[in-house]
Amino acid sequence: MNRSTPIIALALWIAALGFATCARAADPPVLPDLGGTRPSNTAARAADAPVLPDLGGARTSTTAQDSLARDAVCTKCHDENDNKAILSIYQTRHGVKADARTPSCQSCHGTSDRHVKNTEGISPRPAPEVVFGDSLKTKTASAPDVQNQACLSCHQAGQRVNWSGSEHQSHDLACSTCHQVHSPTDAVLNKVTQPEVCETCHKTQRAQFRRLSTHPVQAGEMGCSDCHNPHGSTGPTLLVKNSVNETCYTCHAEKRGPFLWEHSPVVDDCTNCHTPHGSTNPPLLKQRVPFLCQDCHSGDHGAGINSGANLLGGNVTTVNGALPPASQSARAQVNARACLNCHVLIHGSNHPAGTKFQR
Ligand code: HEC
Ligand code: HEC
Ligand code: HEC
Ligand code: HEC
Ligand code: HEC
Ligand code: HEC
Ligand code: HEC
Ligand code: HEC
Ligand code: HEC
Ligand code: HEC
Repeated sequence: MNRSTPIIALALWIAALGFATCARAADPPVLPDLGGTRPSNTAARAADAPVLPDLGGARTSTTAQDSLARDAVCTKCHDENDNKAILSIYQTRHGVKADARTPSCQSCHGTSDRHVKNTEGISPRPAPEVVFGDSLKTKTASAPDVQNQACLSCHQAGQRVNWSGSEHQSHDLACSTCHQVHSPTDAVLNKVTQPEVCETCHKTQRAQFRRLSTHPVQAGEMGCSDCHNPHGSTGPTLLVKNSVNETCYTCHAEKRGPFLWEHSPVVDDCTNCHTPHGSTNPPLLKQRVPFLCQDCHSGDHGAGINSGANLLGGNVTTVNGALPPASQSARAQVNARACLNCHVLIHGSNHPAGTKFQR
């Protein structure tokens, strides 16, 4: 190595830096990160008709300036003196001025000429074309499907492909029942605050999540939406996957197996033994062991599927053809881990001799 090496390296580095700077200058303006697809280079295309990503619906604004100009139709009356909260939409992803996909007031509320002009001079003014909200609270609220169509014009894709016909759609929920768009924070999008939104209607689940053994939803580590897609799904009970087990495997992959010796109720459905939300029997069991097992295994221990019941009478060692020692009392079987003392691998075993899940 000679002394000029560092100098050459430095020169190369400077050249590289210069190149990077030039390249950056020609780059599109840095847009706020919306976490999604973005129109390419809005500013450079100002003269052009911008190529926008397809959100699946009609759009009213073509450029950033356009969007604000259009808003002025409404904000000349609905300004901060009218209701500050309305303008907090500019602090949300629906108010990113540099993003050409940004909706104007009219993208959601409709053109609403009669409301804007009120040529008839009636008071209160004729309502806008789309008024969001619950018709019990807002008399002028549009029908839920009219409200939802305004949102779906841009959001039909992705998570909402199964919205139509879903439990929530068919029970007339509106997007704005869960989402707050004129607010800097939308509680339903945050795992910590999301359960409260769902539990305003789902009181049973609210109670279940306050039991002794639960998934850590109350703790804010999980949301309902880790297991459910509230917009609709192809699986049962709005689950994110096509079955209960597929949903559970997204986090508990080790329970999927494959196992040399499978316990058939596990392969069939985790809810044969577990309840997903909460239980008084840890860990999330529907019943305490041994009663849980005895729902399916009754009769003499050691005699096929109809086994296990006699354990309550202390008859456990008949599995070895011998009578139980006197100390093997019924209580010893029913208490603590009961059947699980011996059948430790209840979800399945990979041991060549693990047919009875004891190893
Ligand atoms: C993304 C769709 C969307 C856009 C864009 C939008 N709104 Fe709204 N607006 C709603 C929804 C939904 C509600 C119901 C309240 C809520 O969910 O926050 C609402 C409610 C309102 C209300 C009634 C508030 C109340 O307290 O009853 C007014 C007034 C209003 N919007 C005006 C505007 C104006 C002005 C603009 C443009 C600056 C605008 N909206 C842009 C969706 C939208
Ligand atoms: C000339 C003033 C004016 C303009 C322009 C105007 N509004 Fe309004 N808006 C009002 C007033 C006033 C009310 C309250 C109702 C009343 O007293 O007539 C209202 C109420 C509303 C409501 C609540 C309706 C309800 O029934 O709960 C919404 C939503 C709304 N405006 C949206 C809009 C949108 C969107 C635009 C633009 C397209 C717009 N407004 C333009 C004055 C205006
Ligand atoms: C004109 C198109 C348009 C309309 C109409 C529209 N949105 Fe959006 N929405 C957007 C865009 C663009 C984004 C930002 C997407 C991104 O960042 O990738 C967005 C983002 C969102 C988000 C995610 C916000 C976040 O913080 O992550 C929610 C929730 C949402 N919209 C709900 C609604 C609801 C509810 C309505 C109807 C009241 C509605 N939208 C109407 C264009 C629209
Ligand atoms: C029952 C409550 C509920 C209803 C009703 C609802 N949403 Fe959502 N929405 C959620 C939850 C929860 C999330 C967060 C999902 C996640 O974290 O995966 C979400 C996320 C979103 C997002 C951001 C994530 C994405 O998919 O881009 C958009 C956009 C959205 N919803 C639009 C809508 C529209 C449009 C409607 C009406 C057709 C609607 N939502 C109805 C609860 C709801
Ligand atoms: C405004 C009330 C309301 C809110 C808020 C709400 N739901 Fe629902 N939900 C319903 C109704 C009504 C049904 C259909 C009837 C039923 O099963 O109770 C339903 C059904 C469901 C089902 C399917 C039940 C089945 O048997 O198939 C699930 C899962 C569910 N909701 C989850 C959620 C989640 C997760 C949230 C929050 C992101 C939420 N809901 C918010 C009212 C609501
Ligand atoms: C760990 C995954 C998981 C989480 C987290 C979860 N659920 Fe569920 N949920 C399920 C499964 C699985 C079922 C189906 C139960 C069955 O078939 O016995 C279900 C069923 C439901 C039902 C239908 C009625 C019932 O109880 O069977 C509703 C409503 C519901 N969940 C709401 C919620 C709400 C609200 C939250 C958040 C507070 C939530 N769930 C969180 C997995 C989950
Ligand atoms: C989004 C991830 C996720 C999904 C999906 C999920 N779980 Fe869990 N599960 C967890 C987490 C996190 C814990 C808590 C682990 C801990 O506390 O160490 C847990 C714990 C458990 C426990 C032990 C509870 C205890 O008290 O120790 C059982 C049993 C369980 N899950 C069953 C299920 C079943 C059945 C399903 C499907 C309906 C499911 N899980 C879906 C994340 C998930
Ligand atoms: C035949 C009943 C039964 C079925 C079906 C079942 N489990 Fe379990 N599960 C148990 C019992 C019993 C325990 C407690 C084991 C212990 O304490 O050693 C348990 C414990 C767990 C635990 C916490 C301890 C651990 O092993 O990680 C998780 C997580 C779990 N089960 C997930 C699942 C999933 C996911 C499914 C579906 C694929 C499932 N279980 C199906 C009976 C069952
Ligand atoms: C929902 C019903 C159900 C529940 C609950 C259940 N099992 Fe099973 N179990 C079965 C079925 C079905 C088989 C397969 C029987 C067969 O192949 O003959 C089986 C097989 C077994 C076997 C192996 C039997 C053999 O002949 O190879 C053992 C051991 C066993 N279960 C123990 C338990 C224990 C311990 C529990 C409680 C933690 C339990 N089971 C809960 C349905 C259940
Ligand atoms: C002290 C240990 C022990 C306890 C506790 C125990 N088992 Fe067993 N069990 C065994 C052994 C060992 C076998 C295998 C016997 C054999 O291979 O012939 C067995 C076999 C089984 C079988 C398969 C039956 C057959 O025909 O081979 C079932 C089902 C079963 N046990 C269920 C249960 C249930 C349910 C409980 C709790 C109520 C339980 N066991 C408690 C040790 C135990």
